[in-house]
This record gives sequence, C-alpha cells and structure tokens, in this order.
Amino acid sequence: MFYEDYIKQNKEWIDSVFAKLDAKLSKTAVKSRDKIPYTVDKNGVHDDRSKDPHCWINGFWGGLMWMMYEHTKNEDYKLTALRSEELQDAAFNRVEGLHHDVGFMWHLLSGANYRLTGDKAARNRNMLCAMTLASRFKLNGNYIRAWNDENSDGKNSNDGWSIVDCMMNLPILYWASEEIGDDRFKQIAMAHADTAMTHHVRPDGSVNHIVAHDLETGEMIKVYGGQGFSSTSCWTRGEAWALYGYILSYIHTGEERYLDTAKKVAHYTIAALAATDFVPPIDFRSPEEPVYYDSTAGAIMACGLIEIAKAVPEHEKKTYITAAVKILKALEEKFCDFSDEKDSVLMMGSEAYYGGQHKAIIYGDYFFTEAILKLRGSEFLPW
Ligand code: GLY
Repeated sequence: MFYEDYIKQNKEWIDSVFAKLDAKLSKTAVKSRDKIPYTVDKNGVHDDRSKDPHCWINGFWGGLMWMMYEHTKNEDYKLTALRSEELQDAAFNRVEGLHHDVGFMWHLLSGANYRLTGDKAARNRNMLCAMTLASRFKLNGNYIRAWNDENSDGKNSNDGWSIVDCMMNLPILYWASEEIGDDRFKQIAMAHADTAMTHHVRPDGSVNHIVAHDLETGEMIKVYGGQGFSSTSCWTRGEAWALYGYILSYIHTGEERYLDTAKKVAHYTIAALAATDFVPPIDFRSPEEPVYYDSTAGAIMACGLIEIAKAVPEHEKKTYITAAVKILKALEEKFCDFSDEKDSVLMMGSEAYYGGQHKAIIYGDYFFTEAILKLRGSEFLPW
C-alpha cells in the first residue's frame, strides 16, 4: 500500500501546511469578502476584478472558499463563496462576453455551491454555462472554439482556434450530462478531448498551446506558441492543463485512452521537472536565461499527479505521488508566504513567457490548496 504509507510518512508536513493555509485563508476570507481577487498590489493587498465579470480567473476565489468550507465547515468561507457568486452574476448581463472558460468560472463556484448545498439557483447558473460551452462546439473539426473575436487584436480573428487549457472546462459538461441523464454534453466533451489528444498533445508528451483549424475541413493548419516561449516549446501551465485535464476526463468517463494520455503528459513533465529540482519553470523548452518560474503550473500538476496516482494500479502509484509531493514541497519551501503581510499565499506565478512574470496569482493559491486537501484525504473533487 505505497500510497497510504507515503501519505502517512508525510502526514506531519501535510497537516502543518494545511494549518498554515487555514489560519491565513480564514482571515482573508473575511477581509476580501467583497472582492474577486486576482493578485495583490504593492502593499500585498488583494486587488478586485469584480468589475470585469467576464475574466476567466473569476471562479477561483469562490472555488477556493467552497473547498475550504467543505473541509472545515467554517461559515466564513461559505459566506465569501456565496458573495463571490453574487458578484459574478453581472457576467450574465452580456452573454457575448462569455467564452470557453465558463467551466473555470462557474463550475468551481456555482457547481460547487449546488453540489455542496443543493441550491437550485446555483444549479441553474451552472447549467446555463454548460449550455454556453456546448454551443461553442465546431462540427468542422470537433473542438470547442477558444475565445471570442472581441478578445483578439482586431486584425486576426481567432475563429478556428482551440487551446489546450480548455481540457479543464470539460468537467462542467460531464456534470451537465450526469445531472440531466442525457449524454449530449458528455459527447461534446469527449469529442473535444479526442481532438486535443491528436492536435495538442505531441507524441513525446509535451503540448501545443494554441492550434488553428481550417474552418471548412477542421484540419490543423498552424500551431501558435501562445503563452509559452515559441510554437515548438512547451509552456508549463499548458502542460499542467493537459495533465490534470486528461485525468479528469478519465475520472468522468472511465475511458482508458484518457488515462494513457494523462500518463504520457505526466511522464514528460516528471522527467523535465527532475532537471529543475521540481521547481516549475515557465516553459520546459525555453532558453536557460532569463530564468522564469511559474509556481501555478506546479500546483496544477501536483493536483493531476495525485489523481493519476489514485487511478493507477499499486505498482505504478509511487511515480506519480512522489512527484506530486516533491513539487508541493518545493513550492512551499521557495514560494509560499503564510504571513499576514500579503493576502496571497503562493508567490512567483507567471501569466506568460512574454509578460506578467513572478507575481501572486489566485489560481496558484487555489490549486496549491486543492492539492493539500487531496493529500489530507478530501473526497470532494471540485471538477
Ligand atoms: N487559461 C489561461 C491561462 O492559463 O493563463
């Protein structure tokens, strides 16, 4: 029973990190109740993105609150999660602003609310978002379209683009099918996952961030580097989205090809991380200088690796669970701030290779906490 024994060996560390998270998050839950934070300002204070309700990151703060509520039953977390959902409702006033990331934005928020409390209004919001996501499916190519033209530079349409990040939006579709007893949402999710398996996941287990498809035939016509160094490099957070995304598709469908793909991506990831002492760089195939990190990628990878470890047979578990714990220990030692000086916990996240490096980002705190809760045995899977 390697997994259980390994968790026992690390229990003291896991519990001490959780205690520090809870001590800090229970205070920020109250302090930042009326905000939807993304990062912190120069004084370490959470910013507020509630005036930008279509921003893809807006579900993570409320999602973090729901996870902590589920684990601790501290009502402060619940009150902040509910407030976040209320603030996020402004997004429905302009449906043209909704995009492929509605899964990130609502499944962790309204989806979690419904699953934890049975709230019917939350179910309604989540179902509307599943329908929105399903409506983005392109039959010519079998993929979910990324972004809207209003997000492009005005010269280049992004019609025909798919992105690897979208693997994390599929759980809201699996949920919708389960909820209504009709597999039409699940069929769309699986069609997208199958397309991404051939167009985004490369044979060596690294990934393409953005793929442009021919609008008539659906054929892959171009790869863009997106947030990574180049079109042939490997943006680490994209790798993380694929790793966690495919194991989630396996969990929701039981299809072995998704487990195999998650493992393929994980093997590339673990080999690449071994070269950096499990401290995640921003891109696995970028020049040695300058050195850029992305702590958020590591936290997402750890979540995916823990789920792979749970899914594979006994003799395979060690590879995945030990890598997950090594990443989390590296993040905790180098990048976590549990003091009250700053509202965020995980520092040194990066938006992209070409901008926004080394800052606190809300999804870093979200995934780091999700991983620690998994190690504590939480059965609640927000995805
Ligand atoms: N999904 C956008 C990002 O990972 O930055």
